[in-house]
Amino acid sequence: MEGDAQLSDLPLEDNLEDMRRTHSCCQLGINDVGKEVVLMGWVQRRRDHGGVIFVDLRDREGITQVVFNPEINPAVHTKAHSVRSEYVLGVRGIVDPRPEDMVNPKLKTGEIEVTIQELKILNPAITPPFLMEDRIEVSENIRLKYRHLDLRRPLIQKNICLRHKASMSVRNFLNHHGFLDIETPFLTRSTPEGARDYLVPSRVNPGRFYALPQSPQIFKQLLMIAGYDKYYQIVRCFRDEDLRADRQPEFTQIDMELSFVGEEDIMAISEKMMAALFKDVLDIQLKTPFPRLSYQDAVSRYGLDKPDVRFGLELRDVSDIVAGSQFKTFAKVVEKRGIVKALNAKGCIDWSRKEIDDLAEFVSIYKAKGLAWIKIRDNGWQSPIAKYFNEAEKSSLIKRLNLEPGDLVFFVADKPRIANDALGYLRNHLGNKLGLIDESEFRFVWVTHFPLLEYDDTENRYKALHHPFTAPLEEDYPLLEKGSAYNPEMVRSRAYDLVLNGSEIGGGSIRNHRIEIQQKVFESLNIGQEEYEEKFGFLLEALESGAPPHGGIAFGFDRLVMILAGQKSIRDVIAFPKTQKASCLLTNAPSETSKKQLEELGIKLRPMVNS
Ligand code: AMO
Ligand code: AMP
Repeated sequence: MEGDAQLSDLPLEDNLEDMRRTHSCCQLGINDVGKEVVLMGWVQRRRDHGGVIFVDLRDREGITQVVFNPEINPAVHTKAHSVRSEYVLGVRGIVDPRPEDMVNPKLKTGEIEVTIQELKILNPAITPPFLMEDRIEVSENIRLKYRHLDLRRPLIQKNICLRHKASMSVRNFLNHHGFLDIETPFLTRSTPEGARDYLVPSRVNPGRFYALPQSPQIFKQLLMIAGYDKYYQIVRCFRDEDLRADRQPEFTQIDMELSFVGEEDIMAISEKMMAALFKDVLDIQLKTPFPRLSYQDAVSRYGLDKPDVRFGLELRDVSDIVAGSQFKTFAKVVEKRGIVKALNAKGCIDWSRKEIDDLAEFVSIYKAKGLAWIKIRDNGWQSPIAKYFNEAEKSSLIKRLNLEPGDLVFFVADKPRIANDALGYLRNHLGNKLGLIDESEFRFVWVTHFPLLEYDDTENRYKALHHPFTAPLEEDYPLLEKGSAYNPEMVRSRAYDLVLNGSEIGGGSIRNHRIEIQQKVFESLNIGQEEYEEKFGFLLEALESGAPPHGGIAFGFDRLVMILAGQKSIRDVIAFPKTQKASCLLTNAPSETSKKQLEELGIKLRPMVNS
């Protein structure tokens, strides 16, 4: 740590009265040659070249090479010897063209350098634990612990600047289309979106808790009822759920709500906003309107309600063909109202046993109990299960799955949800493995007509698939009435999701603005009158006070920025993200708290069983 010894020895030079920054580190070019300039920034690298010292000076905009030449100013050159990585400098000098063989076409300022006449060391720095460069070999945990340094890396800086640009584009668009930006509370009651709540104890109301909002859903509906048509907010939401690469416990939504509208209006304004966003940020012209798929078609063809439509490889249901076959595993599943679905990996006959076993392991993540396969050879079928199918079944499979010599076909038999999930994710996996995905493409698709409810096996009750304020499709009302037609699982809703490249980037719905329908939905969710009055009485009362027809949508802003920036992790587009365990490694949150604070809140901790 050669830099450290000098930290306290360096004279303080942070008076900037006589040194005013004239340019950023990305601004200067060949047209500026001859100008006297002042730059400020951090030392990316220092190189000693036989007397001449070169420093790459970095700020959030870019890098400029500055040169300390002993022949120009020996005192400044001597001082430059003490400069180390990440020192903060102020420099004054003259813009010079670089010698022809030193021009760096990869750098925006690569045609020039600045020959320095005055150097101020504004602050030294301890040796950083990793270099502020794009390609670094350090674990993400180290990067997150030193996030203030990680944020200096050009790639992350680019992402954060892109995020700002995206946010400005969305704000401009919505402001120009008559939307009002209105803030809604963070300390509130539970706003259910299917996750657990983060609770905040109230000191002045001992034993009572606020919940941080999972979304501003109820408030934006109240704003519609209050007459504030066209609301938006770029807003933080809080969800205590299991985290993945595209999920954070606190994340940002572009949240919108409109009155006197139907699905078409909301989809149209969303498409226009996406088109403006992609034009502003990436200079890409999107083709609108976006294609649409019903939920049923999406799941049937792609297995998932967020299909990646950049490639084919569609799934087929073969339950009817195999129901009577001698392969009892399949026949039994169909008998028990399960399904057998298949995926034809065309031309993949040469995959090894090991590769196939790995895929079986992969589908087991999605709870599939096995992955049956058949290789279609010129001279017949090779498979542990081929012997169970008769000629008629074989020829039906050939027709349904378009089987040709060279193909490798996979089957999963299970409850519909499991079979679809397993093959849906296998399809995405194979799309990548087979190089079927054009990474430069942006393919949007609306998924519509989601079921209103789904049965939750663990809790043995129906749950709202979107949230309980979503309106059922009017023609399906009879299925909600307790009578002969009663079949809540078949009720379709007026909900829609926007999917981009296989990622759910937004979702919304037309809401229940009539109290009778809202009550009916609560009842079908097995929420008793007393419970819904207690939890949502204020909303029901508002619905009776002149609620206009209304609906809206919310986009996952972090996910959108992640895709715009071409990143694979949501954490790379958030300034201070949390880990998969919902902790912040920089501040060590969540942390223990003092006994006094707990006492004030009237909270007594029990020893944790599993911690
Ligand atoms: P929904 O729950 O579908 O709808 O959320 C909208 C969008 O937010 C993003 N998202 C997330 N992003 C990062 N981390 C998370 N943990 C996370 N959870 C969700 C997704 C999702 O599409 N109130 C409704 C909207 C409405 O009906 O208007 C809502 O919140 O991209
Ligand atoms: P078995 O008869 O159990 O030896 O299984 C024969 C083949 O069928 C193996 O390749 C298993 O992986 C596969 N298999 C077993 N159960 C299922 C299932 N539910 N869905 C798809 N394939 C299965």
